[in-house]
Amino acid sequence: MQVLSFGSLNLDYVYQVDHFVKKGETLASTGLQVFCGGKGLNQSLALQKAGISVRHAGVIGPDGQILVEMLEDAGVDCSLVQHVTEPRSGSAIIQRDLQGDNCIILYGGANKAVDEALVDRVLNEFHSGDYLLVQNEISSLPYLVRRAHERGMYIVLNPSPINENLFAVDFSMIDLIILNEIEGKALTGCTGDVEELLKRLCQVFPRAEIVLTLGEDGSMYHGNEGTIRERACRVHHVVDTTAAGDTFTGYYLAERIHGRSVAEALRTASLAASLAVTRKGASASIPRWDEVQQLSLGLQENVSIQ
Ligand code: RIB
Repeated sequence: MQVLSFGSLNLDYVYQVDHFVKKGETLASTGLQVFCGGKGLNQSLALQKAGISVRHAGVIGPDGQILVEMLEDAGVDCSLVQHVTEPRSGSAIIQRDLQGDNCIILYGGANKAVDEALVDRVLNEFHSGDYLLVQNEISSLPYLVRRAHERGMYIVLNPSPINENLFAVDFSMIDLIILNEIEGKALTGCTGDVEELLKRLCQVFPRAEIVLTLGEDGSMYHGNEGTIRERACRVHHVVDTTAAGDTFTGYYLAERIHGRSVAEALRTASLAASLAVTRKGASASIPRWDEVQQLSLGLQENVSIQ
C-alpha cells in the first residue's frame, strides 16, 4: 500500500503585525520570516512525522528547491515533484497578529501548472487500495480525483481553501473528507447547528466518512463507525495557528492507516494540532511523533488535556 499526497508547495512570507491591515492602510510589520508551507507540503510532512511513508507530487518553480529539500530531509519521497522554469513556485503572504491568528493571500504559481498529463504520469505508479490525499490549492483537481477513483484509490479530501474550483470535483468519489465547521457551512450552505451540518455533509458526500473539526469544541467523526466526538486540548498560549488544520489532517490519516480506532486518531490529531499552534510557521510548527506522545503523557508545557 502506498500513500500519495498530491498538493501545493508554497513559500510562506509571514509578517508579524499588531492587527490585520485595513483597507487603505499602510502598516509596518514588526518582523518577517520565510517558511516552507502550502497545504500539500504541510500535510505530507505531518503524515511522514506520524510514521507514514509519503510520496509527494506537485509542481515547483525555479525558486522551489528549498521546498523539496525540506520534505526530503524529513524522509518524504519527492521523485514525483515536477520542476518548471516558470512560473515561480506558489507562495503565501501571511499576516500573523498578536493573538497568533492569521490571514493569508495565496499566489498559486507553479501549483497551478498541474495538468492532466502530469496527473496521468503520477497515477500510473499507484493502484487499487493506495491512498490519495488532496486539498484545493492545485489545478486539475477534478481530473485527479476522477482518475484516482477509476484506479480504485482511497481518496481523502481536505477541501481547503473553499472556492468555486472545488465544485467541479465529483464529491461522490470522496472516501474521507476532513474539514472545519466554517468550510462545512460554506460547502453545504448550512446555517444550522452541528447536527444539521453533518446531515447536509452526508448528502453532499454520500460515500464519505466525515471528520469535522470544531475549534474549542473538539472534533467529530461520522461514518461507518457511527458518530464519535473528541474533546479539544486547552492551549494556554497560542503563538501561531498556521497549519494547525494541516497537522490535524496528516496525523488523523496517519493514525487510521496505522490501524488505530477513530477515537484514538481524533485524539492524537488533536494533540498534534495543539502542539502546532504553540510554534511559529507552517511546516516548522508540525510536531514529531515522540513530542505528541509526550503530550499525551502530560509532559508538555503550554498545552493541557481536558
Ligand atoms: O494551511 C496553511 C497553509 O496555507 C500555509 O502554509 C500557506 O502556504 C497556505 O497554503
